[in-house]
Amino acid sequence: MTERQTIVVVGTGYVGLPAALMLARAGHDVVGVDIDENLVRAINEGVMRIKEDELQALMADPQVKANLRAQSTPCEGDVFIIAVPTPLDHRKKAADMSYVDDAMQSIIPYLRPGNLVLVESTIPPLTCRQRLTPMVEKATGLVVGETLYLAHCPERILPGDIFHEIVYNDRIIGGINEKTRQLAAGVYASFVKGVLYTTDDVTAELVKLMENTYRDVNIALANEFSAVAEALGIDGQEAIHLANKHPRVAILSPGIGVGGHCIPIDPWFIKEVDPSNSRLIFTSRLINDEMPARIAARIRRRVRDVQLPRLVVIGAAYKPNVDDPRESPAIEIVNLLREDGYDVAHYDPMIDSMGYSTLAEACQGADMLAILVPHSAVLQELERDRAAIERAMRTPIIERYQ
Ligand SMILES: NC(=O)c1ccc[n+]([C@@H]2O[C@H](COP(=O)([O-])OP(=O)(O)OC[C@H]3O[C@@H](n4cnc5c(N)ncnc54)[C@H](O)[C@@H]3O)[C@@H](O)[C@H]2O)c1
Repeated sequence: MTERQTIVVVGTGYVGLPAALMLARAGHDVVGVDIDENLVRAINEGVMRIKEDELQALMADPQVKANLRAQSTPCEGDVFIIAVPTPLDHRKKAADMSYVDDAMQSIIPYLRPGNLVLVESTIPPLTCRQRLTPMVEKATGLVVGETLYLAHCPERILPGDIFHEIVYNDRIIGGINEKTRQLAAGVYASFVKGVLYTTDDVTAELVKLMENTYRDVNIALANEFSAVAEALGIDGQEAIHLANKHPRVAILSPGIGVGGHCIPIDPWFIKEVDPSNSRLIFTSRLINDEMPARIAARIRRRVRDVQLPRLVVIGAAYKPNVDDPRESPAIEIVNLLREDGYDVAHYDPMIDSMGYSTLAEACQGADMLAILVPHSAVLQELERDRAAIERAMRTPIIERYQ
């Protein structure tokens, strides 16, 4: 392995904790720092909150246990990794940088000449140069690129497959100069088997945002095609399926909106720094943000002939097969229906079963089962027990929306 270093990981959530585990397994001395005391305790007790078997096993690995400890305040180290949230400030439609600012301020007293600071949080372009560099140089007297090294190394993991992706995905390492890039690449080389591509910090910042924006714009296109098909009275799914028979066409599937804390948020960080060149990006955001209202309208139309319909809506996660409800369009759809006075039983077996042990039990006396988030387990249960579910319902309307 590369030389053993003390690595302080600030923010031990979905991104920081898996990185801390990998670095500990690679033989580094790792300190996980989090303001959430419960999380700190859980890590020190070897309890893993992210529901992935391989990560749970990694937490129990003796080498990891020996090399990883968690605490609520930073300490001195060789390398600092910042993996705190960068949510959207919904009012300004811009990055809420308060967590990154706080994390940076919290490590400033411990920074020493030669230290390396790696920002894994997703950040708007120019954050390293125009926000973090002046902040740290003013407070420490260190000079970024000369006596302190600062790089942006964005994360690309897919929740649900973190263990594999954190190792095998290619990574972008963005540093202001060659020395910074080499130092940063050295840290990731201790556990990443994908290619480490080095570039400057601003390029790395934009690349990360481009990746999620590419998804958002393409989803918006699929949603727009679906809306046009609906207006024409034809099946949008079938139209997309047939268009994709063209050798150079790969339209994505339309959905109920875009959720999670990356894809619906990161495009705004591009618009924030360059609004005049972000017209397509902005329009795509609007199209995807309109989807929950469109889906709620489709559900309303489906039950318009039923007196005081009782709806069962499945799914609160932002996408199938995960337990993460952040920015979930399904929740927005349910809220819109409830605001309209509909009686909606809403549950997600991946998050909370709400006391129901089967889908048929949840659908007892219902007039519609709307599957907004098609978790595999739900679809399997529906396929297996469809007759019993339909018998349990007052009106057996069953629709899947993505
Ligand atoms: N989750 C993903 O799949 C994913 C993928 C790529 C990039 N990202 C980006 O990575 C960053 C982190 O995301 P996440 O999903 O890990 O978030 P998270 O909410 O799961 O974890 C962040 C952690 O940081 C802690 N924290 C907040 N402020 C702190 C501070 N000042 N000091 C110490 N700890 C602090 C929180 O308590 C929390 O445990 C975000 O910028 C996100 O956009 C996430």
